[in-house]
Amino acid sequence: MSKIAVVGTGYVGLTTGAYLAHLGHEVVCADVIPAKVERLNLGQIPIVEAGLQEMVQEGLGEGRLSFVLGAAHAVVGAEFVFLCLPTPQGEDGSADLSYVQEAATEIAPYLESGAIVINKSTVPVGSVEMVADIIGRADIAVVSNPEFLREGTAVHDCLHPDRIVIGAADRVAAQRVAGLYATLKAPILITDAASAETIKYASNAFLATKVSFVNAVANLCEAVGADVGQVVEGMALDPRIGGLFLNPGPGWGGSCFPKDTRALVRIAEDAGYDFMLLRGVVAANTAQQDAVTHKIERMAGGSLSGVNVGVWGLAFKAGTDDLRDSPAIAIIDRLRARGASVRAFDPAVAGPLDGIDVVSDPYAACDGADVLVVLTEWPLFAELDLVKVREVMASPRIVDARNLFNPAYASMLGFAYEGIGRRGWIDPSELDMLELSDTHYGRE
Ligand SMILES: NC(=O)c1ccc[n+]([C@@H]2O[C@H](COP(=O)([O-])OP(=O)(O)OC[C@H]3O[C@@H](n4cnc5c(N)ncnc54)[C@H](O)[C@@H]3O)[C@@H](O)[C@H]2O)c1
Repeated sequence: MSKIAVVGTGYVGLTTGAYLAHLGHEVVCADVIPAKVERLNLGQIPIVEAGLQEMVQEGLGEGRLSFVLGAAHAVVGAEFVFLCLPTPQGEDGSADLSYVQEAATEIAPYLESGAIVINKSTVPVGSVEMVADIIGRADIAVVSNPEFLREGTAVHDCLHPDRIVIGAADRVAAQRVAGLYATLKAPILITDAASAETIKYASNAFLATKVSFVNAVANLCEAVGADVGQVVEGMALDPRIGGLFLNPGPGWGGSCFPKDTRALVRIAEDAGYDFMLLRGVVAANTAQQDAVTHKIERMAGGSLSGVNVGVWGLAFKAGTDDLRDSPAIAIIDRLRARGASVRAFDPAVAGPLDGIDVVSDPYAACDGADVLVVLTEWPLFAELDLVKVREVMASPRIVDARNLFNPAYASMLGFAYEGIGRRGWIDPSELDMLELSDTHYGRE
């Protein structure tokens, strides 16, 4: 078992530290926020992530996991040092590497001879060399080991990865890093550093493209009178297409896709390649948020001025409390800019939030609302009682931007209902033709 330092205890660093301790390694995690480090040492985690708190507590309890303030303190004696630092979007769209650069500068004098520094942050091509240059020591190897975990299922994803990618010019260092994952049943792909760095961006860009594609198909369905649910079902039967990540909605968001797609456009641009396709995807995503806003405006009768909108869902996706670049927030901002007031409920998010009245009860969010808008795909929403919703709303109107409800059932209850790419209104006489027991589509 190895001695490991993890620098940065966000979604990636905290999960990485906790599961490496779970695998039996001795892990010291560092952050720069004193209160966070203090709480983590008490086994209290600051994010919503299934199974993470238990795993952190297990590591602390068994003495294999600890948290310190400052990267320099964590790296002393470590054989492996994971950099799990933020790489936010810079002003020109490129990844801001300042956190990585500062941490590399800080740890350089304290690294144990023979230690391997591992870039787990999502960083552009050339970052392995950049970190190696900053560290400036021939006895330290730097490798790329991008992270593919999904927020909401981060612990599961780390313990059951689809693949582990390690990129380095130094094959021996790459093999040593691969050894850390030996007990996980996952294919390990060792590449050169530039390819590993590109794999991460290309994967996120492809997934964003898939979502934007299905959103475009949904918009087309609305225009031609098709139903996106049936269209996707038919497409997904082709194994080359598959059914995953083909759920139409309010656009992609979160802490990764928006910044990573823009960064990849920029990486390509800097290298002299116009990634026209990806530029289109980024533009289509903004247009999707506008389209959903217009849909809500139409549902409200043509103007949002003075309209009360109840919102279910603030997080960028179900299973997380992460609001970074959430499409829900982007759409709420648009609604408010057009004069609507918003009261919102999300099972993982407590207020206060700037300008949004956040309530702790889903029915309270609809109380007196002129329109109810579903913006995050929490399965819980499909279980809620639409009869009760109808009773508390000022007017029974739903824009279901995650296609959680059965349109026929909502119509039958008297709601004006619109999903994304679905036939807006189904004659109640068609109800018996529908499989209302399908829980995905909500209550019977
Ligand atoms: N969140 C995801 O789902 C995800 C998935 C895959 C890859 N990534 C990538 O991983 C990286 C980290 O993402 P995240 O979501 O965990 O970020 P985050 O913002 O949640 O966490 C980063 C942490 O680093 C800490 N930090 C900043 N400077 C530091 C320093 N000098 N020393 C020690 N700690 C420091 C911050 O205080 C924070 O706690 C990013 O590059 C991101 O793109 C994220």
